[in-house]
Amino acid sequence: KEKLKIGLLGLGTVGSGVPTILQEHQEKISQVTGMEITISKALVRDEEEKRRLAEKFDIQLTTTIEDIINDDEIKIIVELIGKVEPAKTFITKALENGKHIVTANKDLLAQHGSELVALAQKNHCDLYYEASVAGGIPILRTIANSLAADNIQKVLGIVNGTTNYMLTQMVSEKKSYDLALKEAQELGFAESDPTNDVDGIDAAYKMVILSQFAFGMNIRLDQVDTRGIRGLSLDDVEMAAQLGYEVKLIGSSENQEGSIAVEVGPMLVAKSHPIASVRNEFNAVFIESSGVGESMYYGPGAGAKPTATSVVSDIITIAKNIRLGTTGHMFNAYQHDTKLAEDATISGK
Ligand code: HSE
Repeated sequence: KEKLKIGLLGLGTVGSGVPTILQEHQEKISQVTGMEITISKALVRDEEEKRRLAEKFDIQLTTTIEDIINDDEIKIIVELIGKVEPAKTFITKALENGKHIVTANKDLLAQHGSELVALAQKNHCDLYYEASVAGGIPILRTIANSLAADNIQKVLGIVNGTTNYMLTQMVSEKKSYDLALKEAQELGFAESDPTNDVDGIDAAYKMVILSQFAFGMNIRLDQVDTRGIRGLSLDDVEMAAQLGYEVKLIGSSENQEGSIAVEVGPMLVAKSHPIASVRNEFNAVFIESSGVGESMYYGPGAGAKPTATSVVSDIITIAKNIRLGTTGHMFNAYQHDTKLAEDATISGK
């Protein structure tokens, strides 16, 4: 069988899940792609991490990016370092070297998505990032492909697993904000610095990407009216529960007569709304569209295995593209006309 070699950047929570998924489903993956996919090298942070991880993984570990980017045998680079830099520099160099890219990096895609897509196209490379939004839910593919014939009016989402875990634990287990956050970190849901989770910024990144897919509009991060859950107390959340509401950190993106309003913030959701029943690290994206009507996509939004499963599905897509002799990217080709985008009134700004 044809061999397909991968370079992995980052062996953290999600990164370490990728070899597991590739191995657990080896036979199926080999059948659907017709290829034998292996990770040949992985980039780690420093010598200390290299020593620690060498015992756990049967992968060649390196602390030098060039070892991976300049390796002609490696065709796909999977970036799971997170944050904009150095990930952006690494991906840029990799694309310039003709490597296909899979990433889960929402910070990067929300802020530099169009630039990277243009670079990928210029270099005839694939760029896929299903895992960047709502971890295990295949929501970007669904909007770009399955809802391609539909007209979306509104996207409502619980797109941050950490804060949803915290809010759930505060209500059902009466845990304090600090304890709930500590647990979300220990369970591997939170970012290494959880500020972006609790301040709603992680959710805002995901709403920027979702808005691009749903409405064909490139929204800047500073155009999203963003509030987080910092400052919410157990009392606030309990009071809402007594009144028949759940407090949820909701991202919302809506086409209001031609202008898109995007916001993220804690909102009161009536317990009867399907999104109110989404608990712990689970995410949901609720879509209102003219053809399908109402639809909701539900699944784990964080965690090693679900997110790594999405990452590996992107690797499989690229493997199929390679076999077909074609290239592709995840970015939705649908674009609203620029005039409308420039004229759009963005809520809160
Ligand atoms: N910290 C993120 C979350 C991870 O809690 O949703 C998945 O993007």
